[in-house]
Amino acid sequence: AAIAALSQSGVAVEVVEETGSTNADLLARAATLSGPLLLVARQQTAGRGRAGRSWLSSSEGSLTFSLAWHFAGGLPRLTGLPLAIGVALADTLERLGVQVGLKWPNDVLRDGDKLAGILIETQAASQGGVWAVIGIGLNLLMPDELEAQIGRSVASLPWLARMDRDELMAALLDGLAGALREFERAGFAAFAARWNLRHAWQGETVTVLDGGTVLHEGSAAGVDDAGRLLLDTPEGRITVLAGDVSLRVK
Ligand code: ATP
Ligand code: BTN
Repeated sequence: AAIAALSQSGVAVEVVEETGSTNADLLARAATLSGPLLLVARQQTAGRGRAGRSWLSSSEGSLTFSLAWHFAGGLPRLTGLPLAIGVALADTLERLGVQVGLKWPNDVLRDGDKLAGILIETQAASQGGVWAVIGIGLNLLMPDELEAQIGRSVASLPWLARMDRDELMAALLDGLAGALREFERAGFAAFAARWNLRHAWQGETVTVLDGGTVLHEGSAAGVDDAGRLLLDTPEGRITVLAGDVSLRVK
């Protein structure tokens, strides 16, 4: 209730003390929703990451939430959505004084480490169109045990962790709702320039991986108006679609 009162978005908000996964919960309820809904878990015990990985979090140190949003168009219109969400998160964090970078397709980085992850899952809607469940995990404080479990260094924001959690959540919600309305109107093209401004790996040599397989290697040159990665390879410029591929810097 506090979050809804602090937000200008008009989006309904539910907060639960503990759940397995806010994405799983909203997907299970999508058929019953009548409008956008934000579900915030103070503690998430079975967080999902991309490609079947798990997302680790702690109740004091993380924000874990999902936003269910209905789109009238079909799935193809949603390519670029994770990138637009990255731009929305970056815009809001910058307004709060935190500079971040974006890694294609859907990570928010700080000083090269992962600060936030975005997982979008979709479901056909009975009224037509699709429900997108946009799940976001944001690291605020990262206990050493968690970082050890993740097995690599991750970013956190101890300074932002001191901010009132509901105010922070409301600010993020307003940024996301504004971005989603813009995305519905104008598509990813309206976000591409802002994404490219924050591209963390611009000009770096990267490999595109599908599981353990290297699909491409080249110099990362930002994204096009559809959110595809532009890669300059010895054979010329190619475009890469997101799907489940991931990037590594060489
Ligand atoms: P992606 O394909 O999503 O870009 P990746 O394979 O490039 O992921 P990273 O983005 O660097 O890898 O993420 C590191 C791994 O740690 C991922 O598997 C990620 O899901 C996992 N992880 C779990 N919890 C966290 C967390 N709280 N913060 C950062 N990473 C986490
Ligand atoms: C990734 O980078 O792999 C995506 C991580 C997404 C984590 C968030 S936390 C809230 C929501 N619920 C989940 O189970 N996952 C997302």
